[in-house]
Amino acid sequence: MKSQPAPAALRAYRLFDRLIMAVDGLARGPDTHAPGDDSNPAADLPDTPLSDTERRRSAALMRVNHTGEICAQALYAAQSAWTTDPAACTTLQAAGHEERAHLDWCATRLRELESHPSRLDAGWFAGAYAIGTAFAVCGDAWSMGFLDETERQVVAHLDDHLARLPRGDRRSAAILRQMQRDEARHAASAMRHGARALPLPLRLMMKGQAALMKAVAARI
Ligand SMILES: [Fe+2]
Ligand SMILES: [Fe+2]
Repeated sequence: MKSQPAPAALRAYRLFDRLIMAVDGLARGPDTHAPGDDSNPAADLPDTPLSDTERRRSAALMRVNHTGEICAQALYAAQSAWTTDPAACTTLQAAGHEERAHLDWCATRLRELESHPSRLDAGWFAGAYAIGTAFAVCGDAWSMGFLDETERQVVAHLDDHLARLPRGDRRSAAILRQMQRDEARHAASAMRHGARALPLPLRLMMKGQAALMKAVAARI
């Protein structure tokens, strides 16, 4: 009769499995396929003409948001690969699906504004994937705490961008408002899955890293 693997061997197998998933997720990069639905909140709004200055300002803001969604894809992919809680995994994957829709809306709006995503998106994705993995391997409470803090910071950031968009850019504003509602829901679901409050130095580091990303992605 074949003997069952020892618990330590099972644990080692699971760890190896997760490592393979993590490397695979990193190698695949962001999922940029359109969500295949008509969920874009700007779809039915008129594309009001903008001056060149306004168009460039909107494009810089939407490029930052596009990069943010690339990072969100990386975080959710990394964290769903490492979570040990099946319910949390389902929630992370569902949120990741919504982030993919956000990414598509931002990409569409950038094209409408005759602009382009950040040329450094591959690097942002890899960096976010590494950070997401680092929190995820510390356990679900840290992982969810990191997600909760990330989504809260994104909600505040979107307030700032909504205030800075040109007044006539209703299509970008509709996208950012829907994203803000979704990100707030993602933060709430992280709390429901036992998010641990992150210490202040970590929260400040995250803000600093996000500020760097925003400054660079707006230009490159
Ligand atoms: Fe998002
Ligand atoms: Fe989110």
